[in-house]
Amino acid sequence: MSILKQKIEELKNRKAKIMLGGGEKSIAKQKEMGKKTARERIDALLDKDSFLEYDMFIQHEAREFGLLGKELPADGVVTGTGKINGKQVAVFAQDFTVAGGSLGFMHAKKITKIMDIALNNRIPLIGINDSGGARIQEGVGALAGYGEIFYRNTISSGVIPQLSVILGPCAGGAVYSPALTDFVFVVEGISKMFITGPDVIKTVLGEEISQEDLGGARVHSEITGNAHFCASSEEECFNQIRTLLDYIPQNNNKESLFNALAKEPLDEIKIETAVPDDPKIPYDVRNVIKSVTDGSDFFEVQALFAPNIVIGYGRINGATVGFIANQPDSLAGVLDCDSADKAARFIRFCDSFNIPLVTFEDLPGYLPGVDQEHMGVIRHGAKILYAYSEATVPRITVILRKAYGGGYIAMNSRHLQADFVFAWTLAEIAVMGAEGAANVIFRKDIAEAENPAEARTQKIQEYKDKFANPYVAAGKGFVDAVIEPCETRKYLIHALSVCKNKKVERPYKKHGNPPF
Ligand code: HXC
Repeated sequence: MSILKQKIEELKNRKAKIMLGGGEKSIAKQKEMGKKTARERIDALLDKDSFLEYDMFIQHEAREFGLLGKELPADGVVTGTGKINGKQVAVFAQDFTVAGGSLGFMHAKKITKIMDIALNNRIPLIGINDSGGARIQEGVGALAGYGEIFYRNTISSGVIPQLSVILGPCAGGAVYSPALTDFVFVVEGISKMFITGPDVIKTVLGEEISQEDLGGARVHSEITGNAHFCASSEEECFNQIRTLLDYIPQNNNKESLFNALAKEPLDEIKIETAVPDDPKIPYDVRNVIKSVTDGSDFFEVQALFAPNIVIGYGRINGATVGFIANQPDSLAGVLDCDSADKAARFIRFCDSFNIPLVTFEDLPGYLPGVDQEHMGVIRHGAKILYAYSEATVPRITVILRKAYGGGYIAMNSRHLQADFVFAWTLAEIAVMGAEGAANVIFRKDIAEAENPAEARTQKIQEYKDKFANPYVAAGKGFVDAVIEPCETRKYLIHALSVCKNKKVERPYKKHGNPPF
């Protein structure tokens, strides 16, 4: 055998050993938990044969607690670049079969190298997390590694999209990298995220809870809002990632993929009947969104968290649009702490990545109550004001029905410098609903009337006649056009086309100070 052939053989043998990760027993355990191995995950996610692995031969330098001389193949993380939907991405996937995917110093170095490659080349970063957290035997070296990752997450924020996929435990410091990224994907029964696990909680507080109930996929999708997409299998999760990457651009200097395949909304989605005339009757605002998007496609983000606001992506005339819509089907579509957080972060992502925003408005205002006030609805509610005001992408609002009080201002009003505000003929733009308004301003008249009930009905009607319409706001130029529901898509196409080259200069500042 020639020397070259021998060397090639050696390379193949070395690679084969590393490809086995933590060995067959650990792989079998991984499979028992319904999980793929790190390399299988990358293969399943990326375009066929597009992945190129880096730093396969990296070795850890730990010496303590039995690690000296212990082989940890690829140091428990697979890194490299490849393609999704034909577009370049950078990926890392922690290998739980090797020391529980724990993060040591060299493991972190591999991750930070791929993060640097992603940032320098302006390609999205996808991190697949499956790890017991900081490698306990390495001490401060592991902590240093986390710090280096968090720094890069922050510097890359707003430049390249960063996606975190939680496919196993994600404990301690490991949760903060995902929290710093733009989108977090979880899978039911597989994903677990917490700062301190059940054991620590029991020791410190005496409380007993399972990993699933503490930080499982549903908990983070419905309660904490830490997760943006919840799937029932790894395959479904990878499909969600591919779909998302189809809607968003590679970096903050690129436009989203133009896709003119599905031109018109589907016939069966009828905008005329999507919204009941009676402002008290709820409905699903997603049908309004679907009535204006190409092919009636709508890819919802954080569908299970704060359902009183709906956010997500669709296309209008081939180009991606970010939708924000009050959801009358849930809490009458009010704004509260969670929905303001949800919308604000979405607005900031879209603004960072040049995605125009369309807002559908129908809400009675901010949610009143002691709970909300004490949870800081002032601070949380301010986030949505800040995010809209700061955004320089095209911003278009359509007022469907109710636009009352603070809600009217917050939902991308003209006063926050919306580019276009359209109102349906059903729109009611006022400080509050007619009933509440009459009770306040006509309290004396109603109390002193011969028939108070009749007087109240009369006063409510009086207020409705005056303000429960779009024409007062239109008369002041706060609304650009009063439109029929069936004209919505046409007006949106026109407005988006006018705003195509929108350029707004802001005064110099290092950065603003949003109410985080
Ligand atoms: C070193 C670890 C490890 C860790 C797991 N392993 N976590 N090795 N450091 N953090 C090893 C185990 O010893 C075991 O090795 C193998 O990985 C598989 O782990 P198991 O426990 O057998 O798996 P499982 O039963 O599925 O439990 C998974 C787990 C549990 C829930 C993640 O391993 C666990 O609780 N690990 C510790 C979690 C933790 O407290 N991490 C530190 C967080 S502090 P063998 O050789 O037996 O196969 C932190 C601070 C960072 O991250 C702060 C930065 C700001």
